[in-house]
Amino acid sequence: MSVEVLPERARAAVLTAPGMIETREFPIPELGSGEILVEVEGCGICGTDVHEYKRDPFALAPVVLGHEGTGTIVALGFGDIRDFTGQRLQVGDQIVTSVLLPEECSFIHEHPDRANLSDGLGVYGLLPDEPGRHLNGYFATHIVLREGSTVFRVNGMPLKQRLLIEPMAVTVHALERAKTTGLLNFGSTVLVQGCGPIGLMMIATLYAYGVENILAVDSVPQRLEMACLMGASRAIRLGGDEDVRAAVARCTGGRGVDFAFQCTGVPAAASAIWKFIRRGGGLCEVGFFMDNGTCEINPHEDLCKKEITAVGSWVYTPQEYPVAIAMIRHLGRIGVPIENLVTHTFPLTRIADAMETNIAMEGIKLAVVP
Ligand SMILES: NC(=O)c1ccc[n+]([C@@H]2O[C@H](COP(=O)([O-])OP(=O)(O)OC[C@H]3O[C@@H](n4cnc5c(N)ncnc54)[C@H](O)[C@@H]3O)[C@@H](O)[C@H]2O)c1
Repeated sequence: MSVEVLPERARAAVLTAPGMIETREFPIPELGSGEILVEVEGCGICGTDVHEYKRDPFALAPVVLGHEGTGTIVALGFGDIRDFTGQRLQVGDQIVTSVLLPEECSFIHEHPDRANLSDGLGVYGLLPDEPGRHLNGYFATHIVLREGSTVFRVNGMPLKQRLLIEPMAVTVHALERAKTTGLLNFGSTVLVQGCGPIGLMMIATLYAYGVENILAVDSVPQRLEMACLMGASRAIRLGGDEDVRAAVARCTGGRGVDFAFQCTGVPAAASAIWKFIRRGGGLCEVGFFMDNGTCEINPHEDLCKKEITAVGSWVYTPQEYPVAIAMIRHLGRIGVPIENLVTHTFPLTRIADAMETNIAMEGIKLAVVP
């Protein structure tokens, strides 16, 4: 019988100040009730990680970032530890995690389906360092999951697919928010503005949902090519020969699209998108997860006269994770090469290069594989 020897120390990439990341070693703590030690297999880099790297807007430093992670359970604390679906977890299980729900929250009590809007929501990789508690993010060799975490078992799923589950949950949630308007159906013409990882996964999500007329807008030709692989029917290049508004009008018989998803986080884009939507159409704002400033709209032309229904979309609920996991598996079955979105991997020691590559907009989804 072989006895697994657990490591005593873990390595983690610590953001110490804007633009400064250093690899540090920490002792692996003794696990308490309900805690789980996970050996990290990889973690995608999100735009939020890049914002944190550039200017630490959430004032978290020192912090171990990384929330799009996945890994294998190497040890369990005491107690009956189960995944979100109620199955007992075991050493060797491959997992992903969703948000950390606060123990006491009157908002969640009153609005159980909208836990994503609780002020007490926590996300691994965006949890401040605490004395004795450093392994809180996936940019590390190991992460310690706390009691009450929302854990999902994803045994046997290829690593690249697992790396996309968290951002897929973002776009699944955005789809659900859009559906609440009653304006999105199979025959809708939908515009996705911004073809970074979020916009591209939004396109794939819409395509899997059955929407066939998807217009993708971006300035980067390679991203537009990827948009077509994800299911977009037309690619419109910002800065190309034709103005985006004219191109949208041409594709929609002059009316504008039925629905649009804003996936850039850029104020000028958030301002322009209203012009592409038809009267009585809908808009889902996904891109402004960070406060990137305000934008101008004309309340008469853009909102009142057109009666546009706009919804915001804020992360996801744990209940949307099984849908996101199923969606990724389904996309493979219908021939959408979703794994192609993971274009680059970097070892933990080169995380600063990964951040700079992301800032230079090279590739699509970059990941750290320790
Ligand atoms: N709502 C949420 O819960 C949530 C979750 C995760 C990320 N986000 C946000 O979504 C946004 C997109 O994330 P990402 O990782 O894809 O970012 P990204 O920066 O990789 O992609 C943004 C894309 O928008 C394009 N773009 C910029 N201006 C444009 C314009 N005027 N018209 C068309 N395209 C334009 C860029 O060329 C780029 O390809 C980010 O701002 C991020 O913070 C939101």
